[in-house]
Amino acid sequence: MKTLVIIAHPDIEHSRGNRALRDAIAHDPNVTVRELYKLYPDFRIDAALEQQLIREHGNIVLQFPMYWYNCPPLLKKWLDDVINDTLFGSAPEKSLVLKGRTLQLAVTIGRVSERYFPPTRDYVWADDVARPYLKPELLDRHGTDIVEVLLTPFEQTAHLAGMEYGHPFVTYNVGPLARMGSINDQDMLARAQEYLQLLQRLDPVTQEA
Ligand SMILES: Cc1cc2nc3c(=O)[nH]c(=O)nc-3n(C[C@H](O)[C@H](O)[C@H](O)COP(=O)(O)O)c2cc1C
Repeated sequence: MKTLVIIAHPDIEHSRGNRALRDAIAHDPNVTVRELYKLYPDFRIDAALEQQLIREHGNIVLQFPMYWYNCPPLLKKWLDDVINDTLFGSAPEKSLVLKGRTLQLAVTIGRVSERYFPPTRDYVWADDVARPYLKPELLDRHGTDIVEVLLTPFEQTAHLAGMEYGHPFVTYNVGPLARMGSINDQDMLARAQEYLQLLQRLDPVTQEA
C-alpha cells in the first residue's frame, strides 16, 4: 500500500525546506502527497475523506516546519478531526486500521541545531517544561535530543493508535539563506534525497484495512 504524506506548511511555494522535501518525494509512485493548507484553506477538513484515504494507504508521514515548538495549527486540527475512534478504539487492543503501520515525522527547524542542545536557553526551557511529564523510558530513549522530546505527543499518539513510531527525520538550520549557519540550497537538496530514501525504506504495509 502506498505511503500517505500529509504536508502542513502555510506557504510552501515560498519555503525552502518543505518545498525541497516535497519536490523530492512528490513523483515517487509509492507516495501520495496531500498538502493540507492548499486543500483546506478555510480549515474545514473533510474528515471522512481523510479517513478513507488513510484506509487506502499504508504508512503515514507528517511533514511540517516547527512553529513555536509544535506543528502548524492545521496539522493539529487534522489530527483532532481525523485520528479518532473511527480509526482506532481508545484502548490499544481495539486498534485496527492503524495497527502495525509506521508514523514517520519529517520536521524542519529554523534554528541551528546547537540551539537545541545543552546548555542553551531553549534547551533549558524545553527540558524544564517537557521532561517532568515524560515517562522514564522516553527520557532514556531521547537522551539530550530536545526536539525529539518536544515531538513526544506525536509519539504517544502513534503508540495509542497501535502504530510504530519512526525515528523523526529532523532537518535543522532551515532559516533564511542569508542567516549565518543556514543550510544552503545544495545541502537542502541532498537532505531531500535522504528523505526520499527514508520513505522508500519504510516497511511496506500489505494488509487491507
Ligand atoms: C510562526 C513561526 C514559528 C516558528 N517557531 C519556531 C520554533 O519554535 N523553533 C524553531 O527552531 N524555528 C521556528 N520557526 C522557524 C521555522 O521552523 C522555519 O522557518 C521552517 O522550519 C523553515 O522551513 P521552510 O523553509 O519549509 O519554511 C518558526 C517560524 C514561524 C513562521
